[in-house]
Amino acid sequence: MSDTTIRSVTGRRVWDSRGRPTVEVEVALAGGARGRAIAPAGASRGSAEAIDLRDGGDAFGGRDVAAAVTNANGEIGAALSGTDAIDQTEADRILVDLDGTADKSRLGANALVATSMAVAHAAAAAMRVPLWHHLADTDGAALPLPEIQIFGGGAHAARRVDVQDFMVMAVGAVEFAEALDWTAEVYRAAGELMAEAGLSRGTADEGGHWPEFESNEDALGMLVQAIERAGLQPVEQVAISLDVAASEFGENGRYRLAHDGRELDSDGMSELLGNWIGRFPIVSVEDPLGEDDIAGLARFTQAYGERVQIVGDDALVTSAARVTDAAQAGACNAILLKPNQAGTLSECRAAFDAARDVGYDSVASARSGETEDTTIVHLAAGWGVPQLKVGSIAHGERTAKWNEGLRIAEALPNGGRLPHRSSFPWGKCG
Ligand code: PGA
Ligand code: ZN
Repeated sequence: MSDTTIRSVTGRRVWDSRGRPTVEVEVALAGGARGRAIAPAGASRGSAEAIDLRDGGDAFGGRDVAAAVTNANGEIGAALSGTDAIDQTEADRILVDLDGTADKSRLGANALVATSMAVAHAAAAAMRVPLWHHLADTDGAALPLPEIQIFGGGAHAARRVDVQDFMVMAVGAVEFAEALDWTAEVYRAAGELMAEAGLSRGTADEGGHWPEFESNEDALGMLVQAIERAGLQPVEQVAISLDVAASEFGENGRYRLAHDGRELDSDGMSELLGNWIGRFPIVSVEDPLGEDDIAGLARFTQAYGERVQIVGDDALVTSAARVTDAAQAGACNAILLKPNQAGTLSECRAAFDAARDVGYDSVASARSGETEDTTIVHLAAGWGVPQLKVGSIAHGERTAKWNEGLRIAEALPNGGRLPHRSSFPWGKCG
């Protein structure tokens, strides 16, 4: 037995940013090092993502996680005990085999992802290095370009607007810290504009301003105004990124934009988005069409993939197999990486590798239900995932991530320099 051998696994119930129960797992190694991690939770989930185990019943709206915690303390701990925490691949293989289901529904993706991440934290602690350093591979660690929410909508704001995330990316920033500076100015300017227009209604689930707009387009217009009011140049310095999350309002090729009062077919939806791409400084669109509309996604990518990044979240669910299939179909040109959609760090890594193999860009992503856990930032920095999305630049569970990025920047050999503009899909198309 070495110092890095897993000695025990402890699960406990903790709370997420929506006041819902979630799973924390703590892994202790033979040499005394410990690591812990907390599972996040989505609200607009892809139907093929790994499933969180929830207890049902009356307590906490059926969202309690007693069974998942019991699994961590029992079966999972027993199976992992004796494994070397340095060998993440082996630890994750044991977790996947032990669960035995394709969707992680037996032991729960919440129990599994918290365990998988806690193993990595424990190994890093044993080696006395930060997690990003432990996860870093030969390609070199670097901080990602932040993608930050300014207005929240969709399932995260009682569907006040159909589009879920109105975000900005500081595409002209050279360093991670500079990207946050610029975004904070845009966030503040947006807040002032909302207040002046009498539209200020607090914040949505991920910390973005709560939208009170007449239409989805009004939000886009307000976002451009906010960028300009912050003294920044749209496109050159700060660009718009949308997560349409179209699976939330589209099914079988029909899209019901409740807020705009119209229903569109797949091509109509594409045209609407294409019109926005033409009129607003948009560089990235996530889930422009539903997860069940791969043909539509392929047509959309064919039409606009040269001009903007098209990110697959609900359709690709952090799956290596799905990103390979999507590439064959010509759907999307980037993937969102959410470790809990896959269930283990190794499966998330496989999706990242598969994306690189087919020439897709990647965006590491937190969930709308979050905690103080910062694993996602370490993962992005260590693996060199070029973009990171964790919600807004407000609310502690979001700032925990951005602030951790600032600390990592100080320790990185490149000081937090961002990937060059030309390496991104929108940079390639000038
Ligand atoms: P979710 O939303 O965490 O609620 O699924 C995030 C996203 O759709 O990207
Ligand atoms: Zn999404």
